[in-house]
Amino acid sequence: MRRPINFNAGPATLPLPALERARAELLDFDGTGLSVMEHSHRGQAYEAVHNEAIALLRELLSIPAEFDVLFLQGGASMQFALVPMSFLPVGGSADHVVTGAWSEKAHQEAAAWAGIAGARARVAGSTKESGFTRVLRADEAQLDPAAAYVHFATNETIHGVQYLETPTFGRAPQVSDMSSDFLWRKVDVAPFSLVYGGAQKNIGPSGVTVVLARKAFLERGRKDLPKILQYRTHAEANSLLNTPPTFGIYLVRNVLDWIKTCGGLDAIEARNRAKAAELYGAVDASAGFYRSPVEVGSRSVMNVVFRLPTEALETRFVEEAGRAGMLGLKGHRSAGGIRVSLYNAVEPEWVTVLVSFMKDFAKKAG
Ligand SMILES: Cc1ncc(COP(=O)(O)O)c(C=O)c1O
Repeated sequence: MRRPINFNAGPATLPLPALERARAELLDFDGTGLSVMEHSHRGQAYEAVHNEAIALLRELLSIPAEFDVLFLQGGASMQFALVPMSFLPVGGSADHVVTGAWSEKAHQEAAAWAGIAGARARVAGSTKESGFTRVLRADEAQLDPAAAYVHFATNETIHGVQYLETPTFGRAPQVSDMSSDFLWRKVDVAPFSLVYGGAQKNIGPSGVTVVLARKAFLERGRKDLPKILQYRTHAEANSLLNTPPTFGIYLVRNVLDWIKTCGGLDAIEARNRAKAAELYGAVDASAGFYRSPVEVGSRSVMNVVFRLPTEALETRFVEEAGRAGMLGLKGHRSAGGIRVSLYNAVEPEWVTVLVSFMKDFAKKAG
């Protein structure tokens, strides 16, 4: 069976070795005669996988001991709500940096909670007026020195805008949505108090949400929420407070192990940068046929967006690429254009195939 070239934005392509391992182990996990899905989450067989996934994450990112590693559910969207519920106190204020559709949504959810709690969710800075075509520099943000935290997204999946270096927004605890660039390189988590991401782009299937958070920050979280909504209780229970998505976490383990086999995150970063350079290079060398709306210093390594001269040509591009075996190239419905997601599991050769298709298409249609 030939797998199509998959540029989907998420759920996205997974590393073939991680899937093959799951297939090989599906009916008989570790000689137990059961699939991993059929094991109790309180049993030894599953707990070993769970703890291995946590240990691999700690190893790959060199996560300091003062951080907890959590596997939660509800996607990044649940984090949009849980972060303010826990950390935006009555009468308090949180700062939001808005650089695309997702950080905007995070702000809207925080504002909903602020309305309930008698608190404020401020927009400390936004690039919306310029169409979300760049990140916001830290010195442009109007920060509240008393903010409970400042929230931003490291990568905007729809607009293709990314912080390639971690910014520092004042002295408030930094909280970040890393859903679409988690593990794209060995990001230092020390400047953050809490980061989160849905697994379905870079590290596994949907249904698992990874949270890395400072223990001291979690301790400050609101204590009168139902237990299931408190980070602290999940941390105390090693993410086994209730039944976790066991098969999803098992697949995350497989993907993390694949990253390690590839040579770790430095090797993954080099591979990601090369893929993005090849693709942006093709866009820039097309004499204006393909056009990136994103400022050069903000161009995402994970989600490359570009336009063609007309929407009709964009539709034709997606259709013809589909016939050539390439999936997932249509831009998000709210943004239009083309989007190529280059997550860790996207093979460099796929980008070469796409670039060659782009050259032919431009010659034909340009
Ligand atoms: C950056 C970012 N944040 C949040 C989300 C929402 O994630 P979920 O669907 O897991 O709630 C997405 C989904 O694509 C995303 O790309």
